[in-house]
Amino acid sequence: MSVIGFIGLGNMGGHMARNLLKNGKKLIVYDVNKTVTEQFRAEGCEVAQHPADIAAASKEIITVLPSSPHVKQVYTNDNGLLKTIQPGTLCMDSSTIDQIVSLEVAQLAQKKKAEYIDAPISGGVTGAQNATLTFMVGAGNDRTFERAKAILDLMGKNIVNLGAVGNGQAAKICNNMLLGIQMIAVSEAMNLGINMGLDAKALAGIINTSSGRCWSSDTYNPVPGVIEGIPSGKGYAGGFGTSLMAKDLSLAQNASTNTQAPTPLGSLAHQIYRILARDPHYQAKDFGVVYQFLKKSNF
Ligand SMILES: *[C@@H]1O[C@H](CO)[C@@H](O)[C@H](O)[C@H]1NC(C)=O
Ligand SMILES: *[C@@H]1O[C@H](CO)[C@@H](O)[C@H](O)[C@H]1NC(C)=O
Ligand SMILES: *[C@@H]1O[C@H](CO)[C@@H](O)[C@H](O)[C@H]1NC(C)=O
Ligand SMILES: *[C@@H]1O[C@H](CO)[C@@H](O)[C@H](O)[C@H]1NC(C)=O
Repeated sequence: MSVIGFIGLGNMGGHMARNLLKNGKKLIVYDVNKTVTEQFRAEGCEVAQHPADIAAASKEIITVLPSSPHVKQVYTNDNGLLKTIQPGTLCMDSSTIDQIVSLEVAQLAQKKKAEYIDAPISGGVTGAQNATLTFMVGAGNDRTFERAKAILDLMGKNIVNLGAVGNGQAAKICNNMLLGIQMIAVSEAMNLGINMGLDAKALAGIINTSSGRCWSSDTYNPVPGVIEGIPSGKGYAGGFGTSLMAKDLSLAQNASTNTQAPTPLGSLAHQIYRILARDPHYQAKDFGVVYQFLKKSNF
């Protein structure tokens, strides 16, 4: 049976790799964190010394990495994937990175007669755990998409074909920019309403059934106690960190500069999450903590 290569066993990647194991796949894995690779070794995986060992052993490779430089390094370093990559290999990158970097790496892979798709994900850690992720795929052609989908189906429930390579990153970056802006907007409106004398749950109920409704108001409300079981009710622990939101908004700002599309609210949102990501009261918290920041509360 063929072996799947997996690089990046963090919060998302670790769960995704385990869903492949659950489906009977054989894996060769790599991560800079030796604790986590030893766990995977104990679960029956082969552990590579370098990304190059993965490309030598596998023709289907998944990467789930924190940022653009990590992806570039894993591919282009001396012991990187491109060193040993075999013709016909399918590279699937589920990191959220610069669209330009995706396109660069895709070209380098194509020079080695390998295929590359960008396939960033949404659905959070729960989605990764439960194999209910959405994959936003830029595969370039339908045949490559179908080849990737056979594997991505084991880790997600919604595998979307967006066409050209790089389109996955574009979709992910635009969605997360909108999410970041909406969270600030909901926080602002909720705080104003509460200051005007409204009960938080009553106001959320009105917004949820009116034209201001959005995911940040009706599913992930940042005001503690409005919705149970989400980070705002648990001191903003877990969830999607302010530094990750700042990073995704920086990708949006870079894309906005490169394409000359104005994003004034995205720019302001970027600045706000950058402040949160550097402030000891807010930095390791879910991005809904922006509500506490606007309230001028260290909660
Ligand atoms: C390494 O992985 C282990 C197991 O997942 C985790 O508990 C630990 O925090 C990780 N270390 C770093 C430095 O990320
Ligand atoms: C999804 O994951 C959550 C959190 O791990 C868990 O509580 C829930 O039961 C899971 N749902 C399914 C359908 O497996
Ligand atoms: C809307 O707000 C209420 C609080 O009034 C909350 O309980 C509910 O879960 C929210 N979501 C939806 C979809 O109504
Ligand atoms: C921003 O885009 C440029 C291309 O114009 C790219 O070379 C660069 O790596 C990007 N910077 C960041 C921080 O993502």
